[in-house]
Amino acid sequence: MARFFQITLSAVLVGLISVGCGGDDGGAGFASGAFGSSSGPPDSSGMIFDGVGAADALSDTEIAISWPSATNVEGTPAALMIYHVFRYLPLPGESFDSVPPPSEVTPGWNLISGNGTPPGVTSFIDTGLFGGISSFFWVRAEDPQGRKSLSLVVAGGHTPEIGAADTQVYSGGNPGDPHFEFSTMMDDAGRTCLTCHTVTPGLGSLDLNTWEGVMIGTGTASNPDSFVIPYQADMTWSNFLSGLTSNPAHHLLFLSQAADILAWETNTIGPWVEDGALNVVDLDPPVFEFDNIDNAGQYFAEFTAFDEVTVTWFQASDPESSPYGNGGQTAAGQLGYFLHYGPNSNSIDWDNPLGPFAWDGVGLQSAIISDYTESDIVIVIRAADKTDNWTTNEREIRLSR
Ligand code: HEC
Repeated sequence: MARFFQITLSAVLVGLISVGCGGDDGGAGFASGAFGSSSGPPDSSGMIFDGVGAADALSDTEIAISWPSATNVEGTPAALMIYHVFRYLPLPGESFDSVPPPSEVTPGWNLISGNGTPPGVTSFIDTGLFGGISSFFWVRAEDPQGRKSLSLVVAGGHTPEIGAADTQVYSGGNPGDPHFEFSTMMDDAGRTCLTCHTVTPGLGSLDLNTWEGVMIGTGTASNPDSFVIPYQADMTWSNFLSGLTSNPAHHLLFLSQAADILAWETNTIGPWVEDGALNVVDLDPPVFEFDNIDNAGQYFAEFTAFDEVTVTWFQASDPESSPYGNGGQTAAGQLGYFLHYGPNSNSIDWDNPLGPFAWDGVGLQSAIISDYTESDIVIVIRAADKTDNWTTNEREIRLSR
């Protein structure tokens, strides 16, 4: 009995070690990404399973985990296999290297797939996360006989930060929102800005009562002439001031309020314009349109020197970053791109990306990762809009030399 136990135990250990060596880091192993169905020798449990394949953020609260289908020594069909998904949430500052090897009893590793996936299903969405955190996933396959795979492969994912809900919008109804200020700022005759500036927009007079009116300005809907230029706080402010001063007769009685009106540069108009001069809060993240044929093959990286990787990508789309989007304007200059990278999927340094890189408006964008001498690199590009919404449809670029 003791001897049998010993043999079983060492067989298990051999199984573990062979899995461990599958990864380049010689440790617990990490997801390799490419997957269809598992191949290779069975582990000592009799299962054939490569382990978890990928963990990719879908939103600030969700990560999709996927893996190749398992089989076993008897060749049980993939459709009969079920899978158990475990998650490890590292403490702040804890890196992948200090994450304990997964097991069903190791503290910190928690089962998140209940009684297992439906038979044959090779993906699972973890919906219990929050923005801006890393998490690690381990998957165990189980066959109808109740045998469980021994793969220790772990895949890491990182949810993006959520958009800033404190975006300043035109008529949010709060102090600091332009409409609120315009409707409460009173001159010595008891008139507010809206006493005069509530007019039908498009007829040459400024309507400050609606966002559309402000954006049309003293022009027409098809030919707007507004003092507002989204994202250009300085120019907007000087347009605004000259609008006030070039109509002195109407604005003279605001003189005693001059200090409060001048403060709008930093507490009302400036922040609103910096946030994109929006009417409503923008919570839509920019999106990398990988499926758009025009973008095919335009998201890649290459080793361009012994210590240098050049990364190239196409522009993410973000309608909210172009308030006048119907004219074919792009989000040029309004998105910031960040490069996250590391020697493998689980060692990406999410806290210290390279960037932001602003778009120059034409062609592809590229940037160089320098002082990088490792033989493998995994890169994820994310874009953030001016209101801090981050792309969530990430794709890893993997390179080896
Ligand atoms: C007594 C009426 C009156 C009041 C009160 C008033 N304005 Fe005006 N303002 C005008 C008139 C008239 C013009 C000329 C353009 C037009 O007809 O809209 C003008 C022009 C402007 C312009 C320049 C528009 C452009 O694009 O050329 C701005 C900006 C402006 N006002 C802002 C304000 C703000 C902000 C307030 C409140 C602090 C205010 N006004 C209060 C009558 C008024």
